[in-house]
Amino acid sequence: MSVKTILSELEGCTDSALLNDWHVVAYSTDLEQGKLLPVTLMERDLVLWRSASGDVHAWDDLCIHRGARLSKGCIERDTVVCPYHGWRYNDQGSCVLIPAAPNEPPMKKARAITHPVKERYGFIWVSTGTPEKDIPIFPEWDDASYQKVHCGPYTFRSGYRAVENFMDPSHFPFVHAGVNGIYDNPDPIAPYDVELTEEGWSPARYA
Ligand code: FES
Repeated sequence: MSVKTILSELEGCTDSALLNDWHVVAYSTDLEQGKLLPVTLMERDLVLWRSASGDVHAWDDLCIHRGARLSKGCIERDTVVCPYHGWRYNDQGSCVLIPAAPNEPPMKKARAITHPVKERYGFIWVSTGTPEKDIPIFPEWDDASYQKVHCGPYTFRSGYRAVENFMDPSHFPFVHAGVNGIYDNPDPIAPYDVELTEEGWSPARYA
């Protein structure tokens, strides 16, 4: 299988708004050093790993040689070793050793397909596009007076429904009764606006 064929078979989201944003793919604690962690982001199979520096890397779960899944391989000497012919990739995604030709420098195109990745708020965030903004700011994260509740992951049929849900406080007493609403005594919701801010859509303060 040629490199061109391998690349043409990569699947995944083509919506630029989603593609060029950051998405949580795992908890930081899920990724131990020395472990390859397969994850799927918007139908695209990825492999995560943590190099000796502690940095996290997110690559397509695919070896550019013959398309084997890198997540089935292993980590040795701070390189990812493909399970099929043993090609080794360093933390920059470059192939540094082809065992069948150990005395020849690997060709430049022998590279893993790498993606932007960050760790923040205890999560690993990946973009398979070109993110235009940083990860959303979460000012309450370090405020001990807030309790953090981890939810999901969830399967959405429509991202628009998810956005709408976060703008709609009138469902709280019914869907989240006892958490942030009371079933028998729902809060009246005064009219409010939804604003487009630097960080995205946000409900304005209730009138
Ligand atoms: S498929 Fe990975 S080294 Fe051949």
